[in-house]
Amino acid sequence: MTANHTTTTSGAPAPSDQQSRSAGRDGAIALTDHYLVEKLAQFNRERVPERVVHAKGGGAFGVFETTHDVSQYTKAALFQPGVTTETLVRFSSVAGEQGSPDTWRDPRGFAIKFYTSDGNYDLVGNNTPVFFIRDGISFPDFIRSQKRLPGSGLRDHNMQWDFWTLKPESAHQVTWLMGDRGVPSSWRHMDGFGSHTFQWINADGERFWVKYHFRTAQGHETLTQAQADQIAGEDADFHRRDLFDAIERGDHPAWDLSVQVMPYDDAKSYRFNPFDLTKVWPKSDYPLIPVGRLTLNRNPENFFAEIEQAAFAPSNFVPGIAASPDKMLQARIFSYADAHRYRVGTNHNQLPVNAPKSPVGHYSKEGAMAYSFPPASQPVYAPNSFGGPHADVERYGDEGGWQNDTELVRASATLHPEDDDFGQARTLVNQVMDDAQRERLVANIAGHVSKVTIPELRERVIQYWTNVDAWLGEAVAAKLDPIVEAQDTLVPEPTAAK
Ligand code: HEM
Repeated sequence: MTANHTTTTSGAPAPSDQQSRSAGRDGAIALTDHYLVEKLAQFNRERVPERVVHAKGGGAFGVFETTHDVSQYTKAALFQPGVTTETLVRFSSVAGEQGSPDTWRDPRGFAIKFYTSDGNYDLVGNNTPVFFIRDGISFPDFIRSQKRLPGSGLRDHNMQWDFWTLKPESAHQVTWLMGDRGVPSSWRHMDGFGSHTFQWINADGERFWVKYHFRTAQGHETLTQAQADQIAGEDADFHRRDLFDAIERGDHPAWDLSVQVMPYDDAKSYRFNPFDLTKVWPKSDYPLIPVGRLTLNRNPENFFAEIEQAAFAPSNFVPGIAASPDKMLQARIFSYADAHRYRVGTNHNQLPVNAPKSPVGHYSKEGAMAYSFPPASQPVYAPNSFGGPHADVERYGDEGGWQNDTELVRASATLHPEDDDFGQARTLVNQVMDDAQRERLVANIAGHVSKVTIPELRERVIQYWTNVDAWLGEAVAAKLDPIVEAQDTLVPEPTAAK
């Protein structure tokens, strides 16, 4: 309920909006002016921590409709023919902070929350089908190399390229990033990918490996580096504004979902590790199978409550969908819910934007900001003899899984004959891009690497691109600007440490 007169947050009418209470006109402010104190204290607490990555973004609500029958692969309620499911999508850039320009070169987040009849299913993907690394243990290091120097607080091309060249598995994703798709013209004009390999389970308990592709119905559009740089200066919120305006004028963006499905037993003998997040599955091996359409049709009413506090977690699976041996995915299954407990609070799933639209029956209780609660008659422990909720093992007991050997090791995944770091980057450059795209790729890489100020590191970067293809290494080397002295870098000073 909204009152016409101002009140304190506890509902008492406010005596004034404009003047604080003081001892006489020029006197000290009274501590008993609790309304002033409340306003200032609440203001100080208006921000929650920004997301440690993907801080800048925007989003909208919509609907997903399953238009094709994929029930032979999954029993997931939302993917049964004809089912429509409310959704929330948040798009984002990765490395920049909350106010950073939308048109900086970066992968874009494409996080989807499906409010299904079996609880929330979150598919927290990107606009690229691959990623920079293949083991989550490197994620904090990777992100720090893309963020800021400890001393100056500046972003630094030396550390970005140092990390990438020391992790050659990054080559495929960095090629994507430096190509045209590294700066989409809007969130509406880019695809979304689940990126990982997931597991689908059908009603008979059969398991499949699956990759998700959301293809934009608006067509692909990208910005050149020059366009992106200019827009970054003119309108830092270019992509956020574009999405909001399009939905306001009734121009509802849509994406068509298809999946690639790999029979469970193919994975062991496939020519490369199908759970390696730095690789795509060629469509000639596993063609796209249509599933349905995602449409965004409603802007948030309140950006903070519905977008900033939205909590997407790769651990939010529903029956019929599960994880895979992808080590990145498994690390993420821990990471996000933990981030949400810290960033939003332990009861983040009670907030309207995160709350499932299906019934809940858990035994978690209390904690800061507890809002929803079961009837007092419900027992607080399980098992119990008093009719509290209990797991329906018959119906939901099959949560997927896979066979593996049981030794605990620290090692890369089982090797397959064609595992390598550069092959798919080479295919992308030589077979997917056309001449004009290749030319822009070289210009984008050279522009970026020209800010690398350490000669040995530049050599390593040229070798990295030579490993993708010799012509590319040469073309990048030929276009580099001379080294400009660094203002601040991580390179140790030649003299003894102070
Ligand atoms: C956001 C961790 C890899 C896509 C986040 C957040 C964390 C995180 C902590 C902030 C969550 C929040 O505060 O709400 C990790 C870790 C990774 C990883 C540990 C590797 C092990 C990836 C990959 C993708 C991805 C591979 C895409 C395929 C996203 C997206 C968001 C995000 C889209 C923003 C979600 C939103 O809009 O709220 N990540 N991430 N991340 N991540 Fe990752």
